[in-house]
Amino acid sequence: MAFNLRNRSLLNMQDFTPRDIRFLLDLSAELKRAKYAGNEVPRLNGKNVALIFEKTSTRTRCAFEVAVHDQGGHVTYIDSSSSQLGRKESLKDTARVLGRLYDGIEYRGFHQGVVEDLATYSHVPVWNGLTDEFHPTQVLADLLTMQEFGEKPLHELSFCYLGDARFNMGNSLLIGGVQMGMDVRIAAPRDLWPHDELVQQMRHLAERTGANVTITDDPYEAVSGVDFIYTDVWVSMGEPVEAWGPRIDLLLPYQVNARLMKATGKARTRFMHCLPAYHNLETETGRTIHERFGLSELEVSDEVFESNASIVFSQAENRMHTIKAVLVATLA
Ligand code: CP
Ligand code: NVA
Repeated sequence: MAFNLRNRSLLNMQDFTPRDIRFLLDLSAELKRAKYAGNEVPRLNGKNVALIFEKTSTRTRCAFEVAVHDQGGHVTYIDSSSSQLGRKESLKDTARVLGRLYDGIEYRGFHQGVVEDLATYSHVPVWNGLTDEFHPTQVLADLLTMQEFGEKPLHELSFCYLGDARFNMGNSLLIGGVQMGMDVRIAAPRDLWPHDELVQQMRHLAERTGANVTITDDPYEAVSGVDFIYTDVWVSMGEPVEAWGPRIDLLLPYQVNARLMKATGKARTRFMHCLPAYHNLETETGRTIHERFGLSELEVSDEVFESNASIVFSQAENRMHTIKAVLVATLA
C-alpha cells in the first residue's frame, strides 16, 4: 500500500490529503474491478464494524454492510430506537463500550461534534456516514463517479452544485472539489451559501491545489460549460417540515430541469444526485408537498432524472466501492 491510512478516522474530507484521496480512489477502482472479476481478496477477516444510524439510510447502511461482508468482516446495526444511545446512555459512554468491542464505527447523526467525540472516546477508526455539516463518504463516491464518466483527471473537470449549499452536501462537495483541484461552482440563493469561514478556507486551499471556486446566485451563469450538474434535496433530514414552504420559494429557480441542462451549452453534461431525490409523486413526502404546494417534482425534474444524462445509480453503486476502500485502508 502506497500510503498508510491505518487507524485513521474519516470525519470530514479534510481528514485526508489530496494524495490520500487519490490513493483511496485508485483503491476503490481496484476493489471494484476485483469484485466484477470475481477475484476479490478479503482483507477484513475477523473484523467487527458497528454501524450507528441516528437518521434513516438506504445507501450508506447497505454500502457499509455489503462492503464489510465482501471483505470477510461482520457488522452490527444500531439505531437510537433499539439501543440505549441517547436516552439511557451518553454518547461518551457508548463510544467507550463500542471501542472495546469493535474494530471501527460508522456514525450517522446530527451534529458534527458528536462524530468527533465518538472518535475521541472510542479510540478506534470512526467514519462519518453523514452529519448536518458533512457527508464525506458520499463525496468519495462522487469523485470516483466523476472520474469514471468524465474520462479526464479530476483537475480537468468541472461541476456545479445547485441547492442548499450550507448543509452537508454543499460543504463536502466544495471541500472535495477544491482538494482535487477541480472547477467548483456553487449556485444558490445567498441565504443558503456555505459559511464564509469555509469559503475563505477553501479559496486559500484552491491557491495550492489549482482549483477554481465560483459561488453565485445565478444558476444559468453557474452551469455554463460544466461537466456535471449536481443537486440534493431542498430540505434535509432533521430539518423541520415547516422549512419546505420558504425553501421552495428560495430554491425553485435552482431546479435542475431540461432548460438548465441545456444552459450548459454542452451535450455531454451529466446529472448527479446523492439520492434520495424528489422527482415524481412516488414518495409520501413528494405527495404531501404536491398537495400543499402543487409541485410534482422538486430539486430535479423527472425528465432529467430519467434521462441518459443521469448517472445517479452509478453514484449509488460507487458508495459501496469507495466505502470498501476506506474500510480496507483504515482497518486491514
Ligand atoms: N446518499 C445517501 O447517503 O443515501 P442514504 O440516506 O440512503 O444513506
Ligand atoms: N442533504 C441530505 C443528504 C442525504 C444523503 C440530507 O441530509 O438529508
